[in-house]
Amino acid sequence: MGLEIDHVAIAVSDLDEAAERYSRALGVEAVRETVESEGVNVAIMRLGAARVELISPIGEDGPIAAFIKKRGEGIHHMALRTGDIDAEVERMEGCGLRFLGGVRAGSEGTRVTFIHPKSLNGVLTELCTGGT
Ligand code: CO
Repeated sequence: MGLEIDHVAIAVSDLDEAAERYSRALGVEAVRETVESEGVNVAIMRLGAARVELISPIGEDGPIAAFIKKRGEGIHHMALRTGDIDAEVERMEGCGLRFLGGVRAGSEGTRVTFIHPKSLNGVLTELCTGGT
């Protein structure tokens, strides 16, 4: 199985307002979730097999708050789903891609790692496997 788009994550400062706008624009319900380990509140909208995730910082600091402060709201990362994350990391490292840390536990039983944005023309990219 090849890679598939799992989600696109968009950093927003006002989650209530953004979730309402997006769910109306896309015509789907937004499901809310808090991911304490990442310090974010999330609104998730399913579009076919993929999702749009609005992410908003819980507090004043953390990487998402810093991202918004520096670059404003907008696309934070895209996530690609793979059946075998370890093999995919090895394959991509063979292509010269640089990773930000090793494979680790993500939300909802997933395993994730991130590709450095410099390796993909400025796009922070998550690789994920498992979970729901
Ligand atoms: Co993500």
